[in-house]
Amino acid sequence: MDETVCRIHVLAIPLPLQGHLNPMLQLCKRLTSKGVRITLVTGTSASISEQNQFESIKIEYILDDDNIEVEGSNASEKVAAFLKRFNSAVSDNLARLVEEKASSDHPVKIVLYDSLMPWILEIVQGQLGLKGAAFFTQACAVSAIYNHIRRGTLKVPLETSTILFPSMPQLESNDLPSFVYNPGPYPGILDLVLSENINLEKSDWLLFNSFDKLENEVVTWLTERYPIKTIGPCTPSMYTDKRLKDDKDYTINFFAPDSEACLKWLDTKETGSVVYVSFGSVSDLGENQMQEIACGLMNSNCNFLWVVRPSEESKIPRDFMSEAQERGLIVNWCPQIKVLSHRAVGCFMSHCGWNSTIEALSLGVPMVTMPVWVDQPTNSKYIVDVWKVGLRVKASEEGEMVTREEVEGTIREVMHGEKASELRNNALRWKELAKEAISEGGSSDKHIEEFVSSLESI
Ligand code: UDX
Repeated sequence: MDETVCRIHVLAIPLPLQGHLNPMLQLCKRLTSKGVRITLVTGTSASISEQNQFESIKIEYILDDDNIEVEGSNASEKVAAFLKRFNSAVSDNLARLVEEKASSDHPVKIVLYDSLMPWILEIVQGQLGLKGAAFFTQACAVSAIYNHIRRGTLKVPLETSTILFPSMPQLESNDLPSFVYNPGPYPGILDLVLSENINLEKSDWLLFNSFDKLENEVVTWLTERYPIKTIGPCTPSMYTDKRLKDDKDYTINFFAPDSEACLKWLDTKETGSVVYVSFGSVSDLGENQMQEIACGLMNSNCNFLWVVRPSEESKIPRDFMSEAQERGLIVNWCPQIKVLSHRAVGCFMSHCGWNSTIEALSLGVPMVTMPVWVDQPTNSKYIVDVWKVGLRVKASEEGEMVTREEVEGTIREVMHGEKASELRNNALRWKELAKEAISEGGSSDKHIEEFVSSLESI
C-alpha cells in the first residue's frame, strides 16, 4: 500500500515490559510495511535505548527519565509499582496525544493496546470516540482458559485436579496458568488477567500473537465466540526467512545484550552442541534451584550458554565457571533470536514465556521446559503434549525443586536421547508452518491485511 495514499494512523500502547513491548513492536513494524503510520507510547527513553532504528515508528515517552525509580522489595513489587505509574501516565496523556494529531493529515482513529490494559478501551471508545484493538501477547489457549473462568465453566478455587475443556488436551491443575491454581502472594494478578475478558466482549479488533495452525482447535473455539485474528508469530522476519536479512529487526532490550561475546563463542561450537538456557526477563529462581540447574548443566556434558541477569548472579555456585571452562558461557543478556537461529544451538531450556516459546517454535529449536509461573505451565503443556517439541523437567515429590539429576537427564534426552530426532523434526515442521503463516498469503498475513483494510473504512 502506498503510504501517501494510506492515512491510517494507529496509536500503539504496549505494556512497557520486555515480553510485551517486543511483540508489539514487531506487529507495528508489520503494519508500517502495509503503509500504516504508527505512534508508539512507552514509559521512558531508558526503556528503548535503540530508538534510532525505528525510522517509521514515532515514539512518545510519557514518563520522566529522572523519576523512574519505584518502590518494592523484590522484582515483582517493582514491576507492579512501575506499571501503576505507567497506567496513570497513559490515562493522563491519552487524550492529549490523540488531540495533537487531530488536525494533521493523519489523525488517530484507532488505539492498539496490550490486552492486559483493558481499561484503555473505556477511554478510547467512551471518552474519545475512537476504535480500540486489543493485542494479546499470550497463547490463545491461555485466553480460552481465562474465558472459561469468566463463563463459570471453570470454578476457582479449583474443584477437581483434572480439567477437560472442549478444544484442549486434558489438563492437570498445574498445567493451568499459575494464578488459577495458586495465587501465591499476588492474589490481585488473577483479577488482572481475568479482566482481559472485557477485550473479548467489547474491543473492535482482537489480535493474537499466534498462528492458526499452531492452535488450530482452540482458535476455532474462540473464533466461534469472538472475532479473534491470529497475526503471529511476531518475531523479526529476517530470522525466519533469511532472504529478508537486510530488514531491520526492531528488537528492544531492557538489558544490554552481550551480543558479540555470545555469537563469537557460539561460532566456536559444533552444530547442535549447545544448550541455550534462559528464564526470561522477570523470573526469580531460588538460590538452591539455580545451583541444581548449574550442576545439571555441568553433568550433562553439553556446551551451554546461560543467561543469568545481574540480580541472579550471586546465586551461581562459586568456581562454577572456572570448572566449566570453554564448555560454558554465562551472560547477563543475549540477542535471543540470533542465538536461537545459530546453527550451534541444539536445544533451549526455557521458562516458557510466550515469546520464548513462539520464538523457539519459529526457529525450529527443541525445548527443555521448566515453567515458573503465570502462563508458562500452560505453554509447557502444549510444547510437550501438543506440539511435541520438548520435554518438561519434573519437580521432586518433596517440594518444588527440580533436581540436578532431572536437569541432566532431560537435557541428555532432548539433545541425544531416543526422542531427540522426533523432537527436532517436529520443531522444524513448526518452523515451516510459522514461516508459512507470516509469508504473503499465509493466515497471519491475510489477517493483518484484513485488519488494515478494515481500518481504511473507518
Ligand atoms: C513475560 C512472562 O513471564 C511470560 O510468561 C509472558 O508470556 C510474557 O511476559 P518474560 O518472562 O520476559 O515475559 O518471557 P518471554 O515471554 O519469553 O519474553 C522474553 C523476551 O526477551 C523474548 O522476546 C526474548 O527473545 C527476549 N530475551 C530474553 C532476549 O532478547 N535476551 C535474553 O537474554 C533473554
